[in-house]
Amino acid sequence: MAEDHCFFNKDFVITKTPKKSPLVLRTVVLIFSMVCGVYICSICLKQISAFRKPKLIDIQAIHQPCYASGLEQWEIPYVHFPKPYTYSRNECACNPVRYFAILSMQRSGSGWFETLLNSHINISSNGEIFSVKERRSNMSTITETLDRVYNLDWFNSASKNECSAAVGFKWMLNQGLMEHHNEIVEYFNRRGVSAVFLFRRNLLRRMISVLANSYDRDAKSLNGTHKSHVHSPHEAEILARYKPKVNTALLIPDLKRVEDTTAKALEYFKSTRHIIVYYEDLVNNHTKLMDVQEFLRVPQRDLKSRQVKIHKAPLSEQLENWDEVLSALNGTRYESFLHLD
Ligand SMILES: *[C@@H]1O[C@H](CO)[C@@H](O)[C@H](O)[C@H]1NC(C)=O
Ligand SMILES: *[C@@H]1O[C@H](CO)[C@@H](O)[C@H](O)[C@H]1NC(C)=O
Ligand SMILES: *[C@@H]1O[C@H](CO)[C@@H](O)[C@H](O)[C@H]1NC(C)=O
Ligand SMILES: *[C@@H]1O[C@H](CO)[C@@H](O)[C@H](O)[C@H]1NC(C)=O
Ligand SMILES: *[C@@H]1O[C@H](CO)[C@@H](O)[C@H](O)[C@H]1NC(C)=O
Repeated sequence: MAEDHCFFNKDFVITKTPKKSPLVLRTVVLIFSMVCGVYICSICLKQISAFRKPKLIDIQAIHQPCYASGLEQWEIPYVHFPKPYTYSRNECACNPVRYFAILSMQRSGSGWFETLLNSHINISSNGEIFSVKERRSNMSTITETLDRVYNLDWFNSASKNECSAAVGFKWMLNQGLMEHHNEIVEYFNRRGVSAVFLFRRNLLRRMISVLANSYDRDAKSLNGTHKSHVHSPHEAEILARYKPKVNTALLIPDLKRVEDTTAKALEYFKSTRHIIVYYEDLVNNHTKLMDVQEFLRVPQRDLKSRQVKIHKAPLSEQLENWDEVLSALNGTRYESFLHLD
């Protein structure tokens, strides 16, 4: 009976299970597969997000180095994407920047030349930054200063900051440039800095400008202030009233010294990428400015300066001892300076 019962039971179980279990099993399997599905999905999502995160960082890291298109092979070392410490270049972050330095001598038109360059929306020329002695005390202070200028972290009224396409400054030959020429050439070549030599052809006229400017430093002819550059014909006329007297005994050695310094500078810096510009050519021929813009690889613009030339008159009217100067230079290789602008 018990066996029977058991049998019955067994039978019941056997006969009942095939009928009931599919439903239960199916439900169990369904629930199990759903749980599995959700689990697998969550793992997948986790893995995808874990996979994505470094990807995002990668994309940013790839974004940081910018690429300039349409460059010629030789240009590549001269193209930079500075990241200033003090601000963000924003929409211009990937605008390429060229580094330059105007290498010149006092009273060679570099002030005027710099205002012309700075009238360009994408050029920042930061003035005579090495006129401050501490900045040129040794090569480490020079390098530090240069690094700041070329990283676009130097500020003055001329800085265009984020959208500069060419950044530089003017550097007089007697401001540590000749003294540290080896290291500076090395820096220029390593960092891809281009040199713009700006010289004056007529060294006699330059000498007059030096003498007059040095006189005005004490005389302060313009309402008690000394100005090296002026913005009105009236001011220019007042400054030009002073007629310097040239020491004719020193005239030829002085002219020769300036000539030698110029030649030496060109020799020292000949391995850098450079262009030689003469003040007189800029004055007489405005397409020279296009050459400079082409050299700096900036978009060509019409450049303007408000500065007014101080000494415009013929040399014979500018010197107190014109006759002495005339005979001192007559028949020498500097004779042409007497007659040229
Ligand atoms: C360079 O000059 C600066 C400032 O004059 C000075 O503090 C520094 O010690 C000098 N460095 C070297 C290496 O001479
Ligand atoms: C020049 O500056 C303008 C305005 O700041 C900017 O939109 C442009 O991209 C710059 N051009 C270059 C070549 O950097
Ligand atoms: C000097 O100052 C006076 C009055 O302020 C002004 O009229 C004159 O133009 C100034 N002269 C120069 C050369 O700046
Ligand atoms: C002006 O300068 C350009 C470019 O440097 C030159 O090709 C041209 O011959 C010059 N024109 C004159 C009149 O000197
Ligand atoms: C320049 O020198 C020549 C002789 O070498 C002389 O004939 C001429 O008068 C001189 N000119 C002046 C302006 O002194």
